[in-house]
Amino acid sequence: MTAAARADSVRGAAALVGELTLDEKVALLEGVDSWHTNAVPRLGIRSLTLTDGPHGVRLVRDTAGGFDVADNVHSTAFPTSATLASSWEPEHARRMGEAIARECRALGVDVLLAPGVNIKRSPLCGRNFEYFSEDPLVSGVFGSAFVRGVQSQGVGTALKHFAANSNEDFRFVGDSVVDERALREIYLRAFERVVREAKPETVMCAYNRVGGTFASENRELLTGILRGEWGFEGVVMTDWGATRDRVAGVAAGCDLDMPGQVPHNRESLVSAVQSGRLDEVVLDASVARVLDLVARHRDAADPGAGYDAAAHGELAREIATDGAVLLANDGTLPLAADGAGLVVVGELFERMRFQGAGSSLISPPEIVTPKDAFDRRGIAYRYEPGYPSMSSQPDPDRAAAAVEAARGASTVLFFGGLTDLEESEGFDRTHLRLGENQTSLLESLLDTGARVVLVLFAGAPVELPFADRLAAVLDMYLPGMHGGEATAALLFGEANPSGKLAESWTRRVEDTSAHADFDRDVIARYVESIYVGYRYYDKAGTELAYPFGHGLSYTSFDYRDAALRVDGDRVIATVRIVNTGERDGAEVVQLYVRNNASSVFKADKELRAFTKVRVPAGASTAAVLEFGLADLAYWDVERHAWVLEDGDYEVLFAASAADVRASLPLTVTGHASSRSPYPAEVDATYAMPPVGIPDAFPALLGRAVPAERADGRLTLETRLIDARRSFLGRVIYRAIVGSVEKPYREADALPDSLERDTRVKNTHFVWRMMPFSSLRSLAMSSGGRFSYDTAEGLSLLAAGHPIRALRAFRRKRVSRGDAA
Ligand code: BGC
Repeated sequence: MTAAARADSVRGAAALVGELTLDEKVALLEGVDSWHTNAVPRLGIRSLTLTDGPHGVRLVRDTAGGFDVADNVHSTAFPTSATLASSWEPEHARRMGEAIARECRALGVDVLLAPGVNIKRSPLCGRNFEYFSEDPLVSGVFGSAFVRGVQSQGVGTALKHFAANSNEDFRFVGDSVVDERALREIYLRAFERVVREAKPETVMCAYNRVGGTFASENRELLTGILRGEWGFEGVVMTDWGATRDRVAGVAAGCDLDMPGQVPHNRESLVSAVQSGRLDEVVLDASVARVLDLVARHRDAADPGAGYDAAAHGELAREIATDGAVLLANDGTLPLAADGAGLVVVGELFERMRFQGAGSSLISPPEIVTPKDAFDRRGIAYRYEPGYPSMSSQPDPDRAAAAVEAARGASTVLFFGGLTDLEESEGFDRTHLRLGENQTSLLESLLDTGARVVLVLFAGAPVELPFADRLAAVLDMYLPGMHGGEATAALLFGEANPSGKLAESWTRRVEDTSAHADFDRDVIARYVESIYVGYRYYDKAGTELAYPFGHGLSYTSFDYRDAALRVDGDRVIATVRIVNTGERDGAEVVQLYVRNNASSVFKADKELRAFTKVRVPAGASTAAVLEFGLADLAYWDVERHAWVLEDGDYEVLFAASAADVRASLPLTVTGHASSRSPYPAEVDATYAMPPVGIPDAFPALLGRAVPAERADGRLTLETRLIDARRSFLGRVIYRAIVGSVEKPYREADALPDSLERDTRVKNTHFVWRMMPFSSLRSLAMSSGGRFSYDTAEGLSLLAAGHPIRALRAFRRKRVSRGDAA
């Protein structure tokens, strides 16, 4: 849209507001069902279609409004964000966004609910496959490129989940207690970059509380920072069911309540305006923003357009190939193409896990598994499933057959990874291990003395205690529908691995930077502060399995002639990357900056720029990397501002966070002198990454740490799993969780098929997530099926108010938007 057309649209939206009744305004601020906003036909205001994201378009076939995520229209299943980010090639994100947007247009989708740029605080977070990195620069750059790609085609995006949403177990009720500096430098920074650079049309607020206030009613976040500081002009929508107090939400700057259909919310908005508790001007501003969004999408959908599905499949394959990470290799890879003596073990070979479970689930038109790709190539191999892929239970017969086959094999290719039962949106992992059926089998295979190559399909790091005994490890993450083709091309050397990790892999879960307080209770104390991922491990000297930025190639690269120049407020670094091997390849060059002379506690070094260069065998290519001096600023908690300190910095040219190839000095002058804004106790404690829960945390936070515990009292905000401590809580838990367990058991009993897998994935996700919901979050997200009045009645009953409870149960409110 041109600037003039935008101005027209904004004026048009403002004028239209005056023609709406109060009921119509309120209706426009909520969904009419899970995937649509309300329309006002008498004024020609159409309904918008919003759908997930991020790895393709997930358009639910029954658009009548339910949340059945099992039956989707076919669309390309691109690699998940975990694979995409490991490519370190933002151009892939742009092209992928563009392709997804073409599918959106063909399917009539106005806004894609993506991308997710939350920071991977712990590898235990079940949803990490949907996020990019532990590092805000990588997350922000990929998020920006993706938004640009999608929006270049006239389709909107929803940047999510704003903010500090780093776990799933407590996502509906938890409080992320983060110090101001870590919030700014780590958790908000990717959002800031995307908002400033790519201007997403909408932002989706998170479920959780941030600093005690729910994100959906967090004025400081939604209005102060997002709109005030970053200049965001679009619509803020809730995550699905993230509303708590709708009036507080609108007052804080949260425009659209999704999926809506909560009469309680609608009525409270109407009465707040009528009583003067909410200024109608504030409501009107929200309505105008929604109308502006509707106007932008007057003619976005183009169902006749179609798209080139084959080209999109090809792009998915290309990104999967570029994003795979060769973690280790003793020279066994690439394999000879004749496959002589090759034994393949692991059911994921034929039932590749190519995407994660939850709201991002895509139904692709086809899947190319590694088995398909091997067979297409006419590779000779012996195959033993070895273990069942949808369970972690060992299968002794299968395992014995695999071990038998391994004896005498030249190479054993073991296809392993996580299942959807272990890793999904909606719940977190409880450990970092692979399933017992896979680890025990791997150990037995290694015990035969066979040369074992591990090919991994998992959305996040896993512990590999036997890593030293493996010949090679190729990590595909979750590579999308053509991941099998990418896998084969890499294993047989048709393609050269060039992905690098966008997150650190520790050896043990105990070593992870958030270990002191992750998923422990409702209050999540982010005690590690800015020391997230490599920022922690580098300084603490943690021995890692694989460091941030690590990834091998079938060739090798030298870094030569590193140079630096400052041009105004930009720093431009160049280095010549020489391919010293015999294969064409690509190298991800990383630029970190160190400022250890600062009087403020800092990470050992921080990533400030990166680029990927493609270098033919024997040739060299100049890598040019650039960052702004302002990027070196830290967030000063006294001034509440970014402060760039004068002093001597060091610019490191690196192949990974643990592999620095060259270093050059950089002196900054004419800005601020270095001075710690913290009390001495904080300086002393945080000079090094903390271990455990430091006494200085409240001082770092600048306030007392809330003491709330999940005590089992059943309120609107109690997780159902915690409510089981009371009799009534147990009854409610059984009724609600039982009702969603049944469809899972039914799906699980279906005969083997892709359709069954999809149903199992979805029903399992809902069943596993349910215990972590609260009565309030259920009522807000169920589109009227579980009413707020019922939720309130139950909580009143639990609090010993039977008469008031009865009154709530008896309230009959219409749940359909009646203004439309
Ligand atoms: C997820 C969002 C998603 C929405 C709609 C929520 O549960 O957190 O990421 O966009 O559902 O499916």
